[in-house]
Amino acid sequence: MYDLLMGPAERAVLGKLRRGLLRKATGRVLEIGAGTGANLPHYPPGIRVVLLEPDPAYRNRGKGKFPGARWVEGRGENLPFPDNSFDTVVATFVLCSVEDPRRTIGEIRRVLRSPGKFLFLEHIRAEARWEQRIQDLSSPLWQLLAGCRCNRPTLEFLNRGGFYLEEKQILHLAMPPLNPQVVGTAITSAYDTP
Ligand SMILES: C[S@@+](CC[C@H](N)C(=O)[O-])C[C@H]1O[C@@H](n2cnc3c(N)ncnc32)[C@H](O)[C@@H]1O
Repeated sequence: MYDLLMGPAERAVLGKLRRGLLRKATGRVLEIGAGTGANLPHYPPGIRVVLLEPDPAYRNRGKGKFPGARWVEGRGENLPFPDNSFDTVVATFVLCSVEDPRRTIGEIRRVLRSPGKFLFLEHIRAEARWEQRIQDLSSPLWQLLAGCRCNRPTLEFLNRGGFYLEEKQILHLAMPPLNPQVVGTAITSAYDTP
């Protein structure tokens, strides 16, 4: 269902956004919450990615589509990798879905080498009060229907989690409660204070 529902948006705009973001991936790459592998066709040639996905239905669909890829079962809150083991971590529409975004961000930081890059595409908490109100009211129902929260202040979590927002573009591609979205890169550096 996920691929079917997302197909029109992928073709209209998301595919291009994914490609623009993922061309910044370098070195050893971990993608968390990889779903059915929507990002895989958009990585630059030669990049090898470890795809972490907790849900067996998503994983199996992804494995069917991309049999050569390396899939790992696991959750963002408890990444099954040693410290400093990746140069790039990727999450697209995932920090809205994880149970504990602060812990997940801490784990992303832990497994990234310093300096490392976190590439993200997420829908986030709106700035306008009226939109926040719509998001807060609809979040429980949205969680039930789609499995994610539409009111997460993800950029704030990243800032507080010791990431420096290197690039960010705020987009309005959908309607409340799913606006706005943000695509960007955050870096860890030896000079950051957590
Ligand atoms: C909206 S889908 C996005 C899938 C894919 N990243 C994409 O861009 O199409 C959210 C994904 O996050 C995964 N997810 C949910 N909770 C998670 C967690 N705690 N850790 C890692 N991934 C999680 C879901 O199983 C699902 O694959």
